[in-house]
Amino acid sequence: MAREFTRVGVVGLGTMGAGIVEVFARNGVEVVAVDISEAALERGRANLTGSTDRAVARGKLAEADRDALIGRVTFAVGLGALDSVDLVIEAVPERLDIKQRLFAELDRVCKPEAILATNTSSLSVTEIAVATTRPDQVIGIHFFNPAPVMKLVEVVRTVVTSAEVVADVEALCVRLGKVDVTITDRAGFIANALLFGYLNQAIGMYESRYATREDIDAAMKLGCGLPMGPLALLDLIGLDTAYEILDTMYRRGGRDRRHSPVPLLRQMVTAGLLGRKSGRGFYTYERPGSGRLVPDESTPVASAPLEGARTVATVGVVGSGALAAGLVESLTTAGYQVTQVDPATELASLAEADLVIEAVADEPEVKKALFAGLGEVCKPGAVLATTTATLAVIELAMATGRPAEVVGLHFANPATPLVEIVQTILTSAETTATARAVVAALGRTGVVCGDSAGFIVNALLFPYLNDAVRMLEAHYSTTDDIDAAMKLGCGYPAGPFELLDSIGPDRSLAVLRAVYRQSREPGLAPAPLLEQLVTAARSFRG
Ligand SMILES: NC(=O)c1ccc[n+]([C@@H]2O[C@H](COP(=O)([O-])OP(=O)(O)OC[C@H]3O[C@@H](n4cnc5c(N)ncnc54)[C@H](O)[C@@H]3O)[C@@H](O)[C@H]2O)c1
Repeated sequence: MAREFTRVGVVGLGTMGAGIVEVFARNGVEVVAVDISEAALERGRANLTGSTDRAVARGKLAEADRDALIGRVTFAVGLGALDSVDLVIEAVPERLDIKQRLFAELDRVCKPEAILATNTSSLSVTEIAVATTRPDQVIGIHFFNPAPVMKLVEVVRTVVTSAEVVADVEALCVRLGKVDVTITDRAGFIANALLFGYLNQAIGMYESRYATREDIDAAMKLGCGLPMGPLALLDLIGLDTAYEILDTMYRRGGRDRRHSPVPLLRQMVTAGLLGRKSGRGFYTYERPGSGRLVPDESTPVASAPLEGARTVATVGVVGSGALAAGLVESLTTAGYQVTQVDPATELASLAEADLVIEAVADEPEVKKALFAGLGEVCKPGAVLATTTATLAVIELAMATGRPAEVVGLHFANPATPLVEIVQTILTSAETTATARAVVAALGRTGVVCGDSAGFIVNALLFPYLNDAVRMLEAHYSTTDDIDAAMKLGCGYPAGPFELLDSIGPDRSLAVLRAVYRQSREPGLAPAPLLEQLVTAARSFRG
């Protein structure tokens, strides 16, 4: 018989705590909600009423149920009110010293049989547990943001957590309508271990002005179908919390430089730019706590990027594959006059084209020879574009003898409207503006980025996929649980192994190799298991 949890305590009513209170109270559990001050309590109460009022407004919660839900919650300052609860879950700041002090105190205050749980994202549950005299009753219950919405809970058992406590908490997750994956105590567990390297890398792209915040976020939303871009997600998580998670993961997770927080993150936290909760982070919000964006000095002016664009009426497409065929069709539909040629045939028919897009095989020598030919044949001022996914655009540009007119147009995935417009260090502003105008005329969304391997989407996506393979290789979890964690915890449309299989392990390996070759980052070296799968011509999910 699983233990009955009739009264639970939640400590810390910030971004996560208020949502966790809601999850319990919605499911008929009495909640004692605790924070350190009256002001913090008020913020927590406002978060809870705001969230439940929105649920009522959307028709997802009846008014009477909302009132009953709120009626189940008692608010209190200080831990004394937790003496009669069956379970406490804490969501105080992500710092080991704070959590250890809190657990020692909870151990004194709570009933001897009460379970003490942490919502930590990255700290060692074991180190938190040993601050108490009951480490066998300490467990991680890691909810995802926003807690009332995301289905996943990672249940973290340490080497001393008792089997009954694990079973009781697993049964509780079912009662709360959550899907749990039970795992051992490793930095970042499943989801954050795969998410935070990616988020940190996105901050690095923004910091180095590789692309704008809007373009980085749009690329990941449109290119991968993610519910939010990485910088908007960081604002939701809270930049102080994100900083602490990365810092812990760096120190606990093998000092992988990819987890060492990008300097800009620390600067933003120091400056009080914490994301939504402070009203400003990577973006600016209507007020602290709001998710509604307001324009700021970095918001792009819609028409500015098209200034200087050259008129394009005739377009040449080189290639005969599926991408070339798709391009011919959509360019024709958009009203351009299109000439399609094969690289083997005479390029002379492209002499008058305003724009030439090549979509031939990603072979460096073939593409270079083609661009040398285009450089000779095409009229001055014609924009020459490559659809390469893995080659450096600048190398092709140099072959033309007119690199200012060369740009990358990476049609990330035929099923999405995204096009990455890749400008090299020599691409002229007019060339980029022309590319933007054509992409817009095709009804697609263009994002502009630098000429680095993987551009935006692949550079951010493939290291994450590789990390998932490494996690599998280390026997930390299974393909099913890892896929479930990313879908149910982060709202991804597909898990990493589903994605790797649909892209194809061989293609994935080729992209990863290109990204690794350029970065020489040890953490980006293709996982041996991926190489073996390619050699054995197998997929991950059979
Ligand atoms: N933010 C996320 O997206 C997210 C997701 C999952 C898990 N978590 C984890 O949840 C925990 C809380 O993170 P957050 O983002 O909600 O933080 P937060 O800063 O939004 O909220 C922290 C809350 O704890 C209170 N607090 C501080 N010290 C306290 C103490 N000694 N006793 C009682 N209350 C105290 C604060 O007043 C505040 O209300 C962290 O461990 C974090 O890693 C966060």
